[in-house]
Amino acid sequence: MTSSNISELSDIYTLDVPDMDIWPKAEKILTARVSSGDIYVDWEDGRVSRFQALWLREQCPCIQCHSEITRETLFDITDLSIDVQAKICVLDADGYLIVQWDQDGHESRYHPGWLRANCYDDWARTGRETGKPTWDKDFEIPAFEAGGVLEDDDQLYDWLVALDRYGLTRLYNASTDTGTVEKVANRIGQIRPSNFGSIFEVVSRPDANSNAYLSVELPLHMDLPTRETPPGLQFLHCIVNDAEGGESLFADAFHVAKFLKQTAPEVYEIVTTVDYPFRNRALDCDYRTAGPLIRLDADGHPVESRINTFLTAPITHLPHDQLKKALEARHHLMRLVKEDRFRVQFKLRPGEIVAFDNRRALHARTEFFPNTGNRLLEGCYLDRDDLHSALNMQARRKRCEAIRKSEAT
Ligand SMILES: [Fe+2]
Repeated sequence: MTSSNISELSDIYTLDVPDMDIWPKAEKILTARVSSGDIYVDWEDGRVSRFQALWLREQCPCIQCHSEITRETLFDITDLSIDVQAKICVLDADGYLIVQWDQDGHESRYHPGWLRANCYDDWARTGRETGKPTWDKDFEIPAFEAGGVLEDDDQLYDWLVALDRYGLTRLYNASTDTGTVEKVANRIGQIRPSNFGSIFEVVSRPDANSNAYLSVELPLHMDLPTRETPPGLQFLHCIVNDAEGGESLFADAFHVAKFLKQTAPEVYEIVTTVDYPFRNRALDCDYRTAGPLIRLDADGHPVESRINTFLTAPITHLPHDQLKKALEARHHLMRLVKEDRFRVQFKLRPGEIVAFDNRRALHARTEFFPNTGNRLLEGCYLDRDDLHSALNMQARRKRCEAIRKSEAT
């Protein structure tokens, strides 16, 4: 978001909600009631939302409870006991929900659009689950015009949605000037520096401190598995690529994980639970960490992979038998990753940027031959958090524009 976008949003910004977001009043509340300590809201479209009392009390948007400047919480919910109850629950003339609380007599006023956007009933939670589709060798990588992404917020939004959903996108028709990758990355947020710098050049060089800076084939991998939280995004901008070889390959680690779970559940169990150590060896730094090769969330869905065969460190924390099983499981997974069925392959053209989720879309390069031509890519990292923030801001802008449009008609 540029500062001008933000000032446009501030016209419509309201203290009626406990965040800085903008929520359309798309559905009216018909009635509100209290039952067994919970607050029920009946919507015009027939849906019902049930709010737990502590949850609703904590989200009171008034300026005693949420700072009118930061919108961060001022009120400490633990000052009340857990059996806080709504004493009165009514609608005001503007259709807002008014609740008076029993313990401190505080009165809260809730915006219906905010309540609708944040309710958590089964129907609401199901409607919000987007589920990220996984992909294999037949994947048509979503492609966007770089100029459009740089200049137009709607095209930026479409690109961010695809990047978040698939973890792999291409931008075409970018300039071949150095520094272009930074401009594109800054449409999302701040670059995340590493010991390779803020912007790194992928080029064959004699003083290489990474296999990436040799011309050898690089197997499918993620970057910086040696960090506790490896970068969430990686961008590679092709400036020159006329050497023979040097094709790019990508594979969706979440798709491989799904396949592994179906075909070898005992291996899946090991690679999702055992910590595998990684280490980067260099003259001036020594990063080490360990983690499962596939990390699952509380619902058992893969949320990140930690797959790299050239930065592995010896396992030293397991007894021999467990160590053997862990290595065999890793072997199984890494052989699977290499299978053609999972990977897309193409040659990056000058002016093309590939943007991908470093903890999901594994990347590789075939060997290239520096005596046949040049190959130079500029790259950088960002965090997933910045992608999510940029997406949220664009979604807010779109809601704001929709409200403006509806008010104008
Ligand atoms: Fe890499």
